[in-house]
Amino acid sequence: MDYSKYFSADVPSFLRSPVREIFRKVDLSAICSFAGGYPAAVTFPLADIPGLAEKVLGRYGTKALQYGATQGVPELREVIAKRYGVPVSQVQITTSSQQGIDVCSRVFLDPGDVVLAENPVYLGALQSFRAYRARVQEISAVSARHSEHASCHSERSEESPVKFIYVIPDFNNPSGKTMTLQERQEIVRIARELDCLIVEDSPYRELRYSGEPVTTIRELAPERTLQLGSFSKIFAPGFRLGWIIGPEELLEQIYICKQCLDLCPPVFDQYLAAEFMGSGMLDANLQKSIAEYRRRRDLMVSLLEKYMPAGVSWTDPEGGLFLWLTLPPALDTVALYDKALSAGVAYVAGSFFYTDGSHRNTMRLNFSFVDEAKMEPGIKLLAALVREAAAAADATADATADAAAAAAEGGR
Ligand SMILES: Cc1ncc(COP(=O)(O)O)c(C=O)c1O
Repeated sequence: MDYSKYFSADVPSFLRSPVREIFRKVDLSAICSFAGGYPAAVTFPLADIPGLAEKVLGRYGTKALQYGATQGVPELREVIAKRYGVPVSQVQITTSSQQGIDVCSRVFLDPGDVVLAENPVYLGALQSFRAYRARVQEISAVSARHSEHASCHSERSEESPVKFIYVIPDFNNPSGKTMTLQERQEIVRIARELDCLIVEDSPYRELRYSGEPVTTIRELAPERTLQLGSFSKIFAPGFRLGWIIGPEELLEQIYICKQCLDLCPPVFDQYLAAEFMGSGMLDANLQKSIAEYRRRRDLMVSLLEKYMPAGVSWTDPEGGLFLWLTLPPALDTVALYDKALSAGVAYVAGSFFYTDGSHRNTMRLNFSFVDEAKMEPGIKLLAALVREAAAAADATADATADAAAAAAEGGR
C-alpha cells in the first residue's frame, strides 16, 4: 500500500537525527562511544530515589499519580523560581527541554520564517525548526551584515521575518564553546534591532568545571528571552523534565499549546524533582557530578594531547559534555565513521551539525558517558584511525601532484 498521500505537508521536512540512528544500530555498552550526549550513570542519585519516592507518596498520596496542572505542579515551579530568582508566574514546566524547543517552534514559527542560530547547531533544535518548515540562518553572517549597515529595518521588510535567535551560550552542544559577555550583549543587540525573541537553551549551565560564570542572556534581556532549562544533566534524563522561564504573555501561549501536546508534565516525576531540588540534594549531587566530569574532561584532553597526530586541534570546554575536534582539511569524518565503528569506537561527524553539511573534517566527542577505564583505549584507537586516514590523504595528494607534474612534463 502506498501511504505517502496520508502524510502531512510537514513530513518531508522532518529530519532524521544521525545521532539517534547510531543509538538504534549500536549497543553503546559494547563499544567505546564518544557519540551521544548521555550523562554518566554514576551521577544519577540512584540510592536516593527510593527515599524520595517514599517521601513523595507519603506527602501527596494518589495526587502524585493523578493528572496535574499544565504549567507544572506548583511545588516544582516554586523551587525553580526561587533558584533562578524569578516570579513563579514566569516558570512553565516542560516534559524535557527538547519539548521546550519544540513548543517554542510550534508557537512562534510559520513556514518560511527565519531562526537565527549558531553554526554548528544542536541537532534536536534543527529537527524542530525544520519540522515547522522554518529556515535556519547563521547568526554570525547576520551579525557581520548588521555591523556594515547602520539600519536593519529596511532589510527586515525585504526578508522573511526573523522570529527568534536560538543560542546555547554555555558549553555549547556540539562545539563546547561558551559565549563571552560581549558576545551575549551582541546577541541581545541584534535581537532588539530585529525586534525578535531569543531562545536561550541552557541545559549545561550548571555543569561548569573551570572559569567564571557569565551573565545569562535572560538576565540581559528578560523582556524577549525564553530560557530553557533541563533536569536531564543535573538529575537524570529518564525523568524527561525541563522548564521555560520567560515573560508571562509568551508563557500563556506556550501553556495553551502544551495542553495539546501532553496535557501536563509527568506529575510523580515533578514531585520527585521538586523534593530533590528543594531539599538541597540537587546541589550536593551536582558537586559530585562536576568533580566527576571535570576529571573526565581533563582525562580526554590529556589523551588527545598524547595520541592525536599533528594537525588535529580541539576545544577545551569550561563545562558541559562535549569537545569539538578539527582534523586536517583533507580528512572526512563521515567517510571514516564506519571504519571507526567496526573498530569499536563511535563519534558524531561534525558536518551533521552544520545546516549545509559542511566541515566534514570535524567531529564531536562526548566525554561524560564512557567509563574512565575505556577512555584511553578509545582515544588511542581513534587517533590511530585519524593518523592512518591522514597518511592515506597525503599519499593521494602526492600521487595527484606527481600525475600533474608528469602531465605538465609530457605537454612540454
Ligand atoms: C543543547 C541541548 N538542548 C536540549 C537538549 C534536550 O535535553 P532534554 O533531555 O531536556 O530534552 C539537549 C540534549 O542533549 C541539548 O544538548
